[in-house]
Amino acid sequence: MNAIVALLAGLTLSASPAPKGAAIPIRPVPNGLALTPPMGWNSWNRFGCNVSDKLIRGMADAIVSTGMRDAGYQYVTIDDCWQVARDADGTIVADSARFPHGIKALADYVHSKGLKFGIYTDAGRRTCQGRPGSYGHEDQDAKTYASWGVDYVKVDWCNAQGIDAPAQYAKIRDALEHSGRPIVFSICEWGSNQPWNWADTTGNLWRTTEDIWDSYASMVSNVDLSMQYWHSAGPGHWNDPDMLEVGNGGMTPTEYRAHFSLWAMMAAPLIAGNDIRALEDTTSREARTTRSILLNHEVIAVDQDSLGAQGMVVQNYPPELQVWVKPLKDGSKAVLLFNRASVPSAITADWGRVGIKTKDAAVRDLWAHKDMGVAERHYTATVPSHGVVMLRVTPVAGS
Ligand code: GLA
Repeated sequence: MNAIVALLAGLTLSASPAPKGAAIPIRPVPNGLALTPPMGWNSWNRFGCNVSDKLIRGMADAIVSTGMRDAGYQYVTIDDCWQVARDADGTIVADSARFPHGIKALADYVHSKGLKFGIYTDAGRRTCQGRPGSYGHEDQDAKTYASWGVDYVKVDWCNAQGIDAPAQYAKIRDALEHSGRPIVFSICEWGSNQPWNWADTTGNLWRTTEDIWDSYASMVSNVDLSMQYWHSAGPGHWNDPDMLEVGNGGMTPTEYRAHFSLWAMMAAPLIAGNDIRALEDTTSREARTTRSILLNHEVIAVDQDSLGAQGMVVQNYPPELQVWVKPLKDGSKAVLLFNRASVPSAITADWGRVGIKTKDAAVRDLWAHKDMGVAERHYTATVPSHGVVMLRVTPVAGS
């Protein structure tokens, strides 16, 4: 059997150059899920511990009414603070004041809207907000989640002193696999145990950074970390530079466009973290701007491209003026001109550096939604400070 067939069959085989007798587990995609980066919404960035049945139902409704579901946002996830205790047999108990109908009824509601349902726990003894963690209850929690109809679990790393991260997350992976339900596994240990070196056989996505804040500086610092691990990303296993802050008010529209574009270039999960209900107000300029970003289908298509390559920087001279490239399945390239300087600047992408082998290439601007014609050997645009110009560049055959 050749390696590819074995890989597809999910088998374990021995192969050189491994040490003699060692078995190499061939499991590049742990569960066959998240073949493109997960998209959805999560409560944490905007609402923190202030979660409830009403909030999540309202958000699911708004994800449908604003067109976000149809744009690909799928997983609606309650982050920390939904859980309060364990009962006598150890089963996790939800906060009955905030979730009076229970979690299963809420999951059913989210499913009835054509969406998927996600939940949060912690691999350690307690969550970051001091709620019961899953340590010692891995199988029990996985079965409970499956019985509720959970489709996605984010697993945090607070209060995990003395626990081995790769082993503990593998235990949770196995528990989820045996739960009887396909569940996307989101590892959230903030990059503290170099998950890019081991998590591709454990989870579908892993955080590469500490928590994002709603500021340009925080967003860029997460980019500078996550971009380094491009080689670990691929279908079923993604670097996660944390959830989106688009629409939360701490960055300018130009910076939010850069944030969203950079996440797409990095093939990062697109998990919105704002109040989607506010986007239903079509008279609000801010809401219209946020919608135009979160619903830019041309940028989303770059993120969701089935090749699953994470983009990287190919030109950064001077260092503030970056050119990023993400190869796409159809042979074209997504190209991002990112201006980190404090003044507007012209940035040129050279076809040679971008990996375009022809002389001519057709250029489409993904924020202007406009074809810019055929460009010979390079393309130059003036980019606002902290902003981007995002292009799709297609080689013209025979040129
Ligand atoms: C950690 C995670 C955040 C969020 C909070 C919840 O800080 O990194 O994304 O889940 O915990 O307490």
